[in-house]
Amino acid sequence: MNKKISHVLRSLERRSEYEQKNYHKIHHDERMLAITKDTGIFYNVLLKIHKPKNILEIGTSTGYSTLWFADAMTRKNSKIITIEKNPKKIKNARKNFDKSGVSDMIEIKQGIAKDVLIQLSKSGKSHLREYFDFIFIDADKEEYSFYFDVCLPMLKKGGIIAADNIIFPRRFQKYIKKYLTHIHGIPHVESITVSIGNGQEISFKKK
Ligand SMILES: C[S@@+](CC[C@H](N)C(=O)[O-])C[C@H]1O[C@@H](n2cnc3c(N)ncnc32)[C@H](O)[C@@H]1O
Repeated sequence: MNKKISHVLRSLERRSEYEQKNYHKIHHDERMLAITKDTGIFYNVLLKIHKPKNILEIGTSTGYSTLWFADAMTRKNSKIITIEKNPKKIKNARKNFDKSGVSDMIEIKQGIAKDVLIQLSKSGKSHLREYFDFIFIDADKEEYSFYFDVCLPMLKKGGIIAADNIIFPRRFQKYIKKYLTHIHGIPHVESITVSIGNGQEISFKKK
């Protein structure tokens, strides 16, 4: 694993641990709400096998998950596009990407994910059709089905759409159930729930 990335990840994990213990003391804007460490390791290994060139992430926060992805991207000119609406979090994410030496491979798109995705999907850039190898959904749970639908045409055949918070926290279950029912009805998609961290849904676009 890249030493600089590893160093930044360890410091973000300490921050995340502090956040778990002092959740209500931390202002919403300041919360990382990051994937768990085992989730990070899981995606790092999965991506080392999958060897993606282009990744799209919805929900950057301070870039903890993005860094696990970046570490696994060994192909030349690999790139991550990551979407975040909160300028404070973007500032922190940029610092973390700089410290890790991966800023060149990461483009942060600031804005409401729905708007950014609609723009990406129909910006006349036909090269974004079947462009991404891996897409990670980790923002507002109410919109997961929308994100999936707008992302699917941008995913390569044989690509993966993954989503966090499929099992925990329980308060999102209403939206997650809708998401699962929705994706299970799509014929050319195969999907499985993996009980790592807060629960991951791994959806594969068949060739
Ligand atoms: C759970 S956190 C992401 C954590 C990150 N993936 C990680 O593991 O380090 C969700 C992030 O999505 C952002 N977010 C929520 N709804 C959004 C929206 N509609 N558009 C853009 N960003 C959004 C929040 O500001 C928050 O930083």
